[in-house]
Amino acid sequence: MSIIKLKEVNSTNLYAKEHLSELADKTVIIADRQTNGRGRFDRVWVDLGGDNLFMSIVLKPSDKFLNVYPNLTQYLSVVVCKVLEHYGLQPNIKWPNDVLIKGKKISGILSETVTQGNNLKGIVLGLGVNLNSDNETLSSIKDKEATALNIELSRDIDKDEFTEKLTSEFFRFYDEFLRKGFVFVRDEYLKRACFLESEISVRVFNDVKSGFVKSINDDGELVLENDKKEFVLTMGDIL
Ligand code: BTN
Repeated sequence: MSIIKLKEVNSTNLYAKEHLSELADKTVIIADRQTNGRGRFDRVWVDLGGDNLFMSIVLKPSDKFLNVYPNLTQYLSVVVCKVLEHYGLQPNIKWPNDVLIKGKKISGILSETVTQGNNLKGIVLGLGVNLNSDNETLSSIKDKEATALNIELSRDIDKDEFTEKLTSEFFRFYDEFLRKGFVFVRDEYLKRACFLESEISVRVFNDVKSGFVKSINDDGELVLENDKKEFVLTMGDIL
């Protein structure tokens, strides 16, 4: 693993995608500031300042990669939870990969692929974690209620220490995850998942699907039931 630290960039994901061919597998890009941070469904990821984590992990395909890459974000969400638990918190995962503390979002993950023709050249796994902020700044995040680690713990958070814990936890089991896929983290994921066995609505692009959450299957998909019929969602945003 190698780390590239940038002072300011439009988005660590954009940087990683643009430089993908020069970047080795397992390169981590970290920026102090992002001027154009992006989230899922093209939402804005607000820059809360230089003491927060904006990071992208570059992953290059191997023979096992094609089966597991849709679940990388879920693997990373479990890793984020483990690190937050190390700080004494009890995080939850909102399918597929938001990490929440008492219902408030503390971390978001955006995975993007780089392809050439039909070939997958790499994955850029982007992660934002709110480490140091205040309630007034957080209120600039319009779409969801958010929190930050320093608010939860009432003390400043050392970004380098957090980043070190996170990257070492991610790469500790990464190769095993590649071999085994989502089932490798399924129990750890379910243990922290919220909204299981409840009625929910999920936005999937311009559509909203509602149902009772039956489970999350071995592929990490959400299994819903509506009108005694089961259906499976591979992506979406729980409302
Ligand atoms: C989401 O919750 O919608 C995903 C947010 C992902 C934000 C991170 S911050 C680092 C990386 N660069 C980006 O532009 N986005 C990701």
